[in-house]
Amino acid sequence: MPKPLTITTAIAYPNGRPHIGHAYEAIATDVFARAARMMGRDVFFQTGTDEHGLKVAQTARGLGITPREFVDEMASYFKEMDDLLGISYDRFIRTSEPVHHAASQAIWEAMAANGDLYLDRYEGWYSVRDEAYYDESELVEGTDGAKLSPQGTPVEWTVEESWFFRLSNYQDKLLALYAEQPDFIQPESRRNEILRFVEGGLRDLSVSRTSFDWGVKVPGSPDHVMYVWVDALTNYLTGCGYPDDTERMARYWGPESDIVHIIGKDIVRFHTVYWPAFLMSANLPLPGKIFGHGFLLNRGEKMSKSLGNVADPKELAEAFGVDALRYFLLAEVGFGNDGSYSAEAIVHRTNTELGNAFGNLAQRTLSFIAKNLEGRLPEPAATADDEALLAAVREAVTDMPRAFEKLAPHEAIQSWLRACYACNAYIDAQAPWALRKTDPARMEAVLATLYVAIAELAVAISPVIPTSATALLDHMGVPADARGYGESVDWYESLRAGGFVLAAPKPLFPRLELPAEAE
Ligand code: MSP
Repeated sequence: MPKPLTITTAIAYPNGRPHIGHAYEAIATDVFARAARMMGRDVFFQTGTDEHGLKVAQTARGLGITPREFVDEMASYFKEMDDLLGISYDRFIRTSEPVHHAASQAIWEAMAANGDLYLDRYEGWYSVRDEAYYDESELVEGTDGAKLSPQGTPVEWTVEESWFFRLSNYQDKLLALYAEQPDFIQPESRRNEILRFVEGGLRDLSVSRTSFDWGVKVPGSPDHVMYVWVDALTNYLTGCGYPDDTERMARYWGPESDIVHIIGKDIVRFHTVYWPAFLMSANLPLPGKIFGHGFLLNRGEKMSKSLGNVADPKELAEAFGVDALRYFLLAEVGFGNDGSYSAEAIVHRTNTELGNAFGNLAQRTLSFIAKNLEGRLPEPAATADDEALLAAVREAVTDMPRAFEKLAPHEAIQSWLRACYACNAYIDAQAPWALRKTDPARMEAVLATLYVAIAELAVAISPVIPTSATALLDHMGVPADARGYGESVDWYESLRAGGFVLAAPKPLFPRLELPAEAE
């Protein structure tokens, strides 16, 4: 049996409504989770919101409401976005949940028991936006001469009593980890960045705050709340049953589990340096892989509230369709690279690839069968051409789960598209409509080949476009046991023998037009 898979997104700060960057991460992770389930794996997929910290407390205060009221409303928008986009999470976690506070206190106590926490005074440059302290040498100068964090956010000099984590003790252990598990940090470019950072030496990390109280209380130090990243990272354990549900922990966070974190490139350091150090300190298993994906840019520009170019995933899904948006984001951007989106690019890709290459192929074939055979499934009589097409489709389709497993969705989509083009070339060469009068038996054999090929293509792409693929497979009567990645099931003959009647199909991807303001 393959190992259980635990796969997570980062948990988002609910400081504002979700944007397309959040949607991108959720969609990509969802595709990996769905593909793994189709490989018969036991999957635990978690996403959620990171609700503590000074920034949230300040925003709520500015609005004249409590942090709790603020996050209750904001978290609901993230959950709504996930539900709208078909994100098949098993758990939507909110760090303000009592079980999460208990898990964070448990990991704290485990790190304390290991002698890694001590009380001291902290002075340094703190960025409220990043919830992180920075070294003087890391700061950059803004256009007006102000000091900014490496992410370009404002920093202020801060002095407070704080608990510290002995991160300096973990330099060698972390370097050994990166050497032993070369896949731990992906893609390669981010791995090199982190190696250089850790090789440069690690300072102990301030892990508690006394200047505000919206957070998880430090056990035995009621004036302190945990540094938000300690509690945030622990969300992954909470969902796996830490500390009390040992059975669940053994399954989803055990030495035998396959644990994958999908996050953006800006938070790779937190996940590949601090997080494994906390876990080693608490004597817990480590994740297997941390993938830092790239950033989505709006027509090549960084999204920001001040530029007014922050795309709302809900509006995009409503304008273009959920599956078109999911497909576009994964097909357009090599996973790991930055990418750009625009209404034109979404419309173009959807129309040419989903609409023409796949949708029309299905539409032409199925309506021809519905009309000319009154919905009766055509009789196969395979020739070398038919076998060659099915072999090409199967080759592409067997590459796809492997590409999803190695977190390369764009490669999976490329294989799939190649197979769609092969089917289009086949239909043009065989011209079944011309055979209707001259050779009806051959026409049936061609249509039967296409029927099977289309169903296999729909199954293979279903992690990316689940709603349309399922609708098509339902329409075609493809049984549930033929909808996974694995041994091919000979369903066509039994469907035909059972007298299945195909109804006239509806177009899967109606042609998109550019919204008026984008023209
Ligand atoms: N709360 C932290 C993560 C804690 S994980 C234990 C955080 N939140 S965030 O809301 O700022 O970002 C959530 C995720 O969205 C991160 O992985 C981040 O990289 C990703 N993205 C934010 N903007 C993005 C784009 N423009 N494009 C793609 N992903 C982006 O960081």
